[in-house]
Amino acid sequence: MQTIRRLTDLRAGLDIFRAAGESVALVPTMGALHAGHMALVAEARLAARRVIVSIFVNPKQFGANEDLGQYPRREAADARMLSEANVDILWAPSVEEMYPHGFATSVSVSGVSDGLDGAKRPGHFDGVATVVSKLFNQVRPDMALFGEKDFQQLAVIRRMVADLDMDVAIRGVPTQREDDGLALSSRNIYLLPDDRARAVALPRALGIAERAIAKGESPDDALAAARETLTAAGFAVDYVELVDAETLGPASLDRPSRLLAAARIGATRLIDNIAVDPPEHR
Ligand code: PAJ
Repeated sequence: MQTIRRLTDLRAGLDIFRAAGESVALVPTMGALHAGHMALVAEARLAARRVIVSIFVNPKQFGANEDLGQYPRREAADARMLSEANVDILWAPSVEEMYPHGFATSVSVSGVSDGLDGAKRPGHFDGVATVVSKLFNQVRPDMALFGEKDFQQLAVIRRMVADLDMDVAIRGVPTQREDDGLALSSRNIYLLPDDRARAVALPRALGIAERAIAKGESPDDALAAARETLTAAGFAVDYVELVDAETLGPASLDRPSRLLAAARIGATRLIDNIAVDPPEHR
C-alpha cells in the first residue's frame, strides 16, 4: 500500500490504474478505523480492482463547539489495518492540501440536509458534501462506499450525486455493531464504562419501536416510548424521528421509512437508525 499526501502524486498513481483499465473504489473516512470502516473496505475489495481509502479529518464538517481538536487521530495504526486489508492507496492529504489558501466553494444539498442532524449541526452536511465532492474529483472513482450508520449522510450524498450528474456509483453498507447491538463508532472510545453499558439502550429502543410500528401500533406512540426509554437510560435525546427513507421528509407507511435517533450520554453524542419497511418489502 502506498500512502499519498499530494494531489499530483495521487493523480499520477491513479493514471496508471486507469491506463490499465482497472476499476477503482473509494472509501472516504476520517480515520480512527474500526470494524465498521473495515466492512466498507472489504466490500470495496470485492467490488473493484483497486481500492483507495481516504483519511481526512475534515474541519468544515465540525461545528465551533464540536470535537475537531479531540477527534481521534491514529494514522499509523490505521495504515497497518488498511495494508493488511490489501488497500492499494491511502490518500491522506493535509488540511492545506485539501483547502489551499483562497478556497471559497461550498456544496450545499437542501431538503435531505435540513432536518435531523442537519438541524442539530448547522453547516455539517455542507462540509460533508463539499469534501466528498472534492474527494470524488480527486480520485474519480467508479464507485464509493458509505455506511448506513450515517444514514442522513448517505441520503445527502446520493442526492448530490444525482443532482450534479456525478459519474460514481454509491453503495450503502449495513451498520456494523458490537455484540450487544451498539453501532461501532470512532466516538465510542469517549464513553465511560457506565455510559457504555447504558448506551445499548439506543439500538434497543429503536428495535422495540420498529417492531411496534411493524405490528401496526401508532408511530407517534412508538416514538414517544423510544424517547422515554432513552431518557430513563440516562440519555439526553436530540431527536427520535420516523422519515421517508429516500427524501427524509414525512414518512408514509406504504413506502420504505427509516427510524433515526441521536442522543447524548455523558459528553458523547451517539446516532443510530433502523429500517421500517412496509409489509411487502419485509
Ligand atoms: P467516518 O465517521 O470516519 O466514517 C467513514 C465511513 O464509515 C462512513 O461512510 C460511515 O458511515 C462508515 N461507518 C462508520 N461506522 C460504521 C458502522 N458501525 N457500520 C458501517 N459503516 C460505518 O463519515 C465520515 O467519516 C465523514 O463524514 C466522511 C464521509 C469521510 C466525509 O468527511
